[in-house]
Amino acid sequence: MKVTVFGVGYVGLVQAAVLAEVGHQVVCVDIDSEKLEALMQGNIPIYEPGLESLVVENYNSGRLSFSTDAAQGVRHGEVQFIAVGTPSDEIGAADTQYVLQVAETIGQHLERSAVVVNKSTVPVGTADKVANIIHQALRARQRFSDIHCPVVSNPEFLKEGSAVSDCMKPDRIIVGTTDKQAEAVIREIYAPFNRNREKIMVMDERSAELTKYAANCMLATKISFMNEVANLAERLGADIESVRMGIGSDPRIGYHFIYPGVGYGGSCFPKDVQALIHTSSQAGFEPKILQAVESRNRLQKQTLFAKIADYYGRDLKGKTFALWGLAFKPNTDDMREAPARVLMEALWKAGATVQAYDPEAMDEAQRIYGQRSDFRLCGTKEAALSGADALVVVTEWQIFRAPDFDLIGRSLTDRVIFDGRNVYDPARIATRGLNYYSVGRAP
Ligand code: UGA
Repeated sequence: MKVTVFGVGYVGLVQAAVLAEVGHQVVCVDIDSEKLEALMQGNIPIYEPGLESLVVENYNSGRLSFSTDAAQGVRHGEVQFIAVGTPSDEIGAADTQYVLQVAETIGQHLERSAVVVNKSTVPVGTADKVANIIHQALRARQRFSDIHCPVVSNPEFLKEGSAVSDCMKPDRIIVGTTDKQAEAVIREIYAPFNRNREKIMVMDERSAELTKYAANCMLATKISFMNEVANLAERLGADIESVRMGIGSDPRIGYHFIYPGVGYGGSCFPKDVQALIHTSSQAGFEPKILQAVESRNRLQKQTLFAKIADYYGRDLKGKTFALWGLAFKPNTDDMREAPARVLMEALWKAGATVQAYDPEAMDEAQRIYGQRSDFRLCGTKEAALSGADALVVVTEWQIFRAPDFDLIGRSLTDRVIFDGRNVYDPARIATRGLNYYSVGRAP
């Protein structure tokens, strides 16, 4: 099928490459010509395992192309995906202006019937707004009677770090439409991903839009709940890791997303929890749980700093911290809403210096904080230890899991590790004569 994808951000680029891979003819449209130029030369702006080869191979085969010409993009697609960003605005609501601009463009240039698919995470009711804008534009061109353009809500559930495989092998494909023709088109486009078992779930547009928020907010709730219990465990002399195993074994609870830590980050959970709070208040409803999830997460991002400050009797002036992990989670270079940022900014405010290492987020950290004199990026995790007083582990990358503890002990002046992700076994560390502070476990 002929497909157009508006927006080559995370969601759009991965979706476009995966659709091209199974044989669809995909044109990606974006206003950022530099980004498109780089993509055509095989330079992928984000670190995402498997994405580069997928983009390069499909571009070379001619199934995937890139253009800034929106009108040409609109004329190409039998299916038009909207995958542009919906950043938070100043009051925490999702800003849909880019989505609505694409709708306007589609309405202005469409020359034959097409199905518009909204992939961006958008507030409930946006599919209706997109449809209204397109239909109004078609009416203005007197093409409303001969061009049929239903709008489907089809939210994306991919995770950074495993985006390609999540998109290739989705757990579910949510299709929000009551239009039977549109449903048939969507079934056809996703047929290669809907093998072995039925993954397509058809529902109305609003339910599909709310499904996306409900999924992310449920996962964020699990994390904030676990962080709350971890804080309690610390005060009660219990071990959150034993508690985690104990409750995870109940299949109704499960082991996923109950890892305590330094709070959730990234471009999705913080934004989506806030957006659903905003949607709720607009609907005249006060969401007690979502507010608690959000406020626990804000507080949790400060807990690691509080432990460090307590340890040093609040005097961090002149101290140097080795920091392992800058990205908001492993297998990505993304530092949006990363707990490491909150921690480093607090350390700097208290007069400390940070020597950091991350396997993928070094360029991003350089871009954000490169000008600071109290921030050094180190080429290896060992180099970050050199001359430091203490080690702080913020992101649980695999290469941090089994370090040389003797080297850590020799390198750190104060022989202390602050672990925001419970990566190490406290008993093993104690045998090395190191002090160790983690989350939800007594020191
Ligand atoms: C999340 C969802 O998991 C995806 O299903 C969704 O499609 C995506 O948002 C989106 O809306 O686009 P992502 O933000 O890539 O994906 O990252 P996650 O793997 O969900 O992790 C989010 C945060 O939660 C990270 O900071 C991670 O460290 C934290 N986390 C996760 C915990 O603190 N504890 C856990 O047990 C799990």
